[in-house]
Amino acid sequence: MKKVNRRKFLRTATAAGTAWLASPGAPQRRLLAQASEARIDVLLNEPAGAIAPEIYGHFVEHLGGVVYDGIWVGEQTSIPHVDGIRKQLVDALKKVKPGMIRWPGGCFADTYDWRDGTGPRDQRPKRTNFWLEAREWPGNVTRTGPQVYDPNQFATVDFARLCKLTGGKPYLAANLRSLPAQNFWRWVEYCNSPAGSTTLAALRAADGETNPLGVRFWGVGNESWGCGGNFDPEDYATEFNRYTAWIPSYGVGTALVGSGGNEGSADWTRRLFAKLSRLGTLDRLWGLSLHHYSWNASGGRTDDWMAGKRDALRFDAEQYYDILRQADEMEAMIAAQWTVMAESDPRHSAKLVVDEWGSWYASGTEPFPQALLGQQNTMRDAVLAGMTLDIFNRHADKVAMASVAQLVNCLQSLFLAHEDKFCVTPTYHVFDLYSPHQGARSVRTVVSAPETTYSRNGRQASFRGLNGSASVSGSRLTLTVTNPSMDQAREAEIAIRGGTPRSAAGMMLAESDVHAHNSFENPQAVAPKAVAVSVKGAGTVFRFPPASVTRLTFQMPAFVPRQF
Ligand code: AHR
Repeated sequence: MKKVNRRKFLRTATAAGTAWLASPGAPQRRLLAQASEARIDVLLNEPAGAIAPEIYGHFVEHLGGVVYDGIWVGEQTSIPHVDGIRKQLVDALKKVKPGMIRWPGGCFADTYDWRDGTGPRDQRPKRTNFWLEAREWPGNVTRTGPQVYDPNQFATVDFARLCKLTGGKPYLAANLRSLPAQNFWRWVEYCNSPAGSTTLAALRAADGETNPLGVRFWGVGNESWGCGGNFDPEDYATEFNRYTAWIPSYGVGTALVGSGGNEGSADWTRRLFAKLSRLGTLDRLWGLSLHHYSWNASGGRTDDWMAGKRDALRFDAEQYYDILRQADEMEAMIAAQWTVMAESDPRHSAKLVVDEWGSWYASGTEPFPQALLGQQNTMRDAVLAGMTLDIFNRHADKVAMASVAQLVNCLQSLFLAHEDKFCVTPTYHVFDLYSPHQGARSVRTVVSAPETTYSRNGRQASFRGLNGSASVSGSRLTLTVTNPSMDQAREAEIAIRGGTPRSAAGMMLAESDVHAHNSFENPQAVAPKAVAVSVKGAGTVFRFPPASVTRLTFQMPAFVPRQF
């Protein structure tokens, strides 16, 4: 896709809209359009690829309260569990259909030895966790417990069980920095070799899983430019080749994901692809990882990683918009990466894997002290999640997998959990609202709306106004839309081009206060509500409230779009 300047795009979209309005037989629509400040054109005959369910993925790292307390409560507890895994989490996660789950990190992955998580549980080693000395620990927290000295109670087969229980496909990140290549393919052998075939298959059976785990997705290192080894792209390419030279596929195949550069560095991608291409191994790369966090809420006053972050709950308009503006950059990052990848891979055999995205705030709202990087989650995060998923849906031809960071008690979580307390966050509800997109065909959706503007350190800043995506599955058309404005509702004319819906229904996440959030004490403070939508000809007019995430579902007559 050509990189299109946002302002130019809006001009083009508006021009296309005007042409449509001038077409004969649409006087009523013309009136509606004049009354609406925004319009959304859903182009049923312009498919943009199938939306991989794996785009709706999650991330589980041995970091703070994600694994211990969040997921793993152990087998000797009164907290309801399935083989040691928190039952409430299993039930809620299953409902939103996780397409994929990534484990065990993150930076942790390049310190992890999977063999520590095998054999009798009471004989497993305790290891110092990667995050022990992280700068993000609040000063007054005692660094103790399984969050910092990992007892290896939750390991490969337990993770595979979490995947099986919830329906997510496993995606494992291999240790490229501190273990030899042989260890990687032995892990593949432990996971995937047929029952009874190898010594490691026997070990797997002794650990509780006789049948192969069927792991197809493998990350080859994580952030190899930084915590994963401080490599340069050429040296990483050499390591990538060594690690992936011989990986048995065991009938499930191997989809190998290479590390991307820092914040979508074009230089890293260009040099990595150039070297793999020169050595004739570029075709081993199924996906290239891209990480993007929205963290700097300082209004441009600093770029410092620690100083730029602000509170998850107490934020003003500038901080609210700064975070969402960074989330909106995801689209440009995807487009830029795609363009650079094409220089060596013009047929795009490798796709993008956005395996870490979300908000990252300053410490202070952790659900419990050891939950390092744990943070509360408000309507701001819900809008961020909706904007990001809409971007992925629109680029379904480029993004093969993605995972929000992280599943529970860490960064932009779907869940908060501690001991017997549990609640879902506004971000969870967005994944629920968006789940009908999974596996559906993305269709081009052109949103023309006034930009979101705000005052940023005394100057006006802006980013996209309404954001949305649409997909078709059978006779169901799903349109999701976010309105990032803190205080302005946006009325939009929605035109469905290429079909006339029979009926429509709506679900919406919207609260009068953008700071609204769920907590153990008030777990239902934010929850989606049904909203009325009336179909008018080939579309409708809908008012999107401030800071809202909306799903509109249209029932279409039996319909086979072109090129599907
Ligand atoms: O998600 C937290 C950390 O952020 C991950 O471990 C790392 O990959 C990234 O820098």
